[in-house]
Amino acid sequence: MTAPQPSALAMVPFVSVADMMKLLNTIGVADMIAGIADEIEADYRRWPDFDKTPRVPSHSEEGVIELMPTSDGETYGFKYVNGHPANMARGYQTVTAFGLLARVDTGYPILLSEMTVLTALRTAAMSCVAAKHLAPKEAKTMALIGNGAQCEFQALGFQRILEISDVRLYDIDPAATAKVVKNLKDSGLTVTACATAQEAVTGADIITTCTADKQYATILTDNMVGAGQHINAIGGDCPGKTELHRDILLRSDIFVEYPPQTRIEGEIQQLNPDHPVTELWEVITDRKSGRTDSSQITLFDSVGFATEDFSALRYVHRQLEKTGHYINLDMIADPDDPRDLFGMVTRAQGAD
Ligand SMILES: NC(=O)c1ccc[n+]([C@@H]2O[C@H](COP(=O)([O-])OP(=O)(O)OC[C@H]3O[C@@H](n4cnc5c(N)ncnc54)[C@H](O)[C@@H]3O)[C@@H](O)[C@H]2O)c1
Repeated sequence: MTAPQPSALAMVPFVSVADMMKLLNTIGVADMIAGIADEIEADYRRWPDFDKTPRVPSHSEEGVIELMPTSDGETYGFKYVNGHPANMARGYQTVTAFGLLARVDTGYPILLSEMTVLTALRTAAMSCVAAKHLAPKEAKTMALIGNGAQCEFQALGFQRILEISDVRLYDIDPAATAKVVKNLKDSGLTVTACATAQEAVTGADIITTCTADKQYATILTDNMVGAGQHINAIGGDCPGKTELHRDILLRSDIFVEYPPQTRIEGEIQQLNPDHPVTELWEVITDRKSGRTDSSQITLFDSVGFATEDFSALRYVHRQLEKTGHYINLDMIADPDDPRDLFGMVTRAQGAD
């Protein structure tokens, strides 16, 4: 990395929600998910390079606020994210987020970005990276249980990367399903609204669960999952918040992002702490097998890990100069004499 002048370093590119919309509409949703998926997969291939820690949560009765930090030794990143299942009823998002990248050599930030939309893109991208290695090869149909904010991004990511052609939707709230049917009407996907979760999963090669409820929920019961299916379980991502019946886990081969975090937050919090799981980075780097036969049930116990947000932020950072969809924020105090911070304050007196 070459060292820009201090005054240039003090300006931090900021991608607002409006800029993220412009970026998405310039690149296209599916292409952006595919680009982030490539970035995530490349970073999973160099997994040992990263500082890794389970995210730092602050739990409350209503939800959780978390910090997700990581570094590859050259660049540091973190995401601030919340999860509040009751928010939707208040007219708020369940998940909102923003994130930052910084240079490790100076500690100066190089990007501040909205990450509510970016989290949906990176979650879809991560699901697709896992499914590429775990789902049945000829998978064409995906059931999507939970038709909230994440849903369309998952559908479009799987269409683009896994070549899924059919999605089968179910939500306890028919209005959520109707929203997805409308949003996907020009996608080229065959979209079917189902009356029950059982109806949605019947005949599906992949089942994605993305519901939000702060409890040990049973979105899928054991009888609903058949030989050969791949389960992409997204919504169980917090202590006391799961989606699958425990018996499904006992019949599945389970793949995870970072075990110390997933043991606390994922579906596997229902199992003994030594229950065998495979780390995805080992599958991606061919150290371990993914899907080995057509009758195997594979489960990606997704909770979302800090390196994936780092990868997504790096993807956005690479687009800045190409697209110009950002503004510079005067975020770092930058006195001419680095020791004269006080002088900078006094000089600013009366400046307006
Ligand atoms: N694993 C990850 O990386 C990751 C990333 C982002 C979000 N999440 C999680 O994914 C889940 C979905 O997120 P979102 O932003 O789409 O939430 P959302 O609140 O927008 O949507 C959730 C949907 O689930 C539906 N639902 C609730 N209970 C249900 C049930 N029993 N059966 C069917 N549908 C049900 C709701 O009606 C709602 O439409 C949340 O739990 C969130 O925490 C995980």
